Amino acid sequence: NTKAFIFDLDGVIVDTAKYHYLAWQKIANELNIEFTHEHNELLKGVSRVRSLDIILELGKVTASQEDKDRWLVQKNEEYLSYLVDMNESEILPGVFPILKFLKENNQPIALGSASKNARPILEKTGLLPYFDAIVDGNDVTNAKPDPEVFLIAAKLLNITPENSIVFEDSVAGVQAANIGNMTSIGIGEANTLHEAKYIFNDFTTIDTHFIEELIKE
Ligand code: BG6
Ligand code: MG
Repeated sequence: NTKAFIFDLDGVIVDTAKYHYLAWQKIANELNIEFTHEHNELLKGVSRVRSLDIILELGKVTASQEDKDRWLVQKNEEYLSYLVDMNESEILPGVFPILKFLKENNQPIALGSASKNARPILEKTGLLPYFDAIVDGNDVTNAKPDPEVFLIAAKLLNITPENSIVFEDSVAGVQAANIGNMTSIGIGEANTLHEAKYIFNDFTTIDTHFIEELIKE
């Protein structure tokens, strides 16, 4: 049996959510907008442009397109500064063994991320060779919870949505998988990700037996 295994990037493969948070917080601070950890949940899986709009809405700030463009550039520069020294040590615990297991079992693997920085991150962490397809923020027009990113990934792997499995840490991403008729696996807190078919705290709690069953299903 063959299934498509589609991984979100930020918060699933690498813990970049903290860097996105820090970079947005800097912008929010400059604009005197309160931006908490709870607020940050709203931005997980959300595009860069939309994230800024959400922050501005939180602070009831209206801005010109020119200002917005400047903040978007500033945010990404700040974010990239955290990635300079990134290496394989930043792969989240348990991820690598699962990728290896999937490869050994000839299961196709794709990335399905909203980020435009996905490729350099996969390169820096040495994970690029594990991915048969990469679909990221440069390839999609509709953001999660629209299933576009995952549907393109499944198509590139030549697998139907029904035979595709998505690992996601964001609510929007879990919803995207569900709307796309894929099996959603939430990585994170059950309270937040309750819409997922399966939920795990992190990859260390996913055993290969569970993966074997998914492949057989
Ligand atoms: C998602 C992250 O994966 O990518 C979001 O969860 C981020 O926090 C989005 O805003 C876009 O990423 P980037 O790297 O293109 O700014
Ligand atoms: Mg994510």
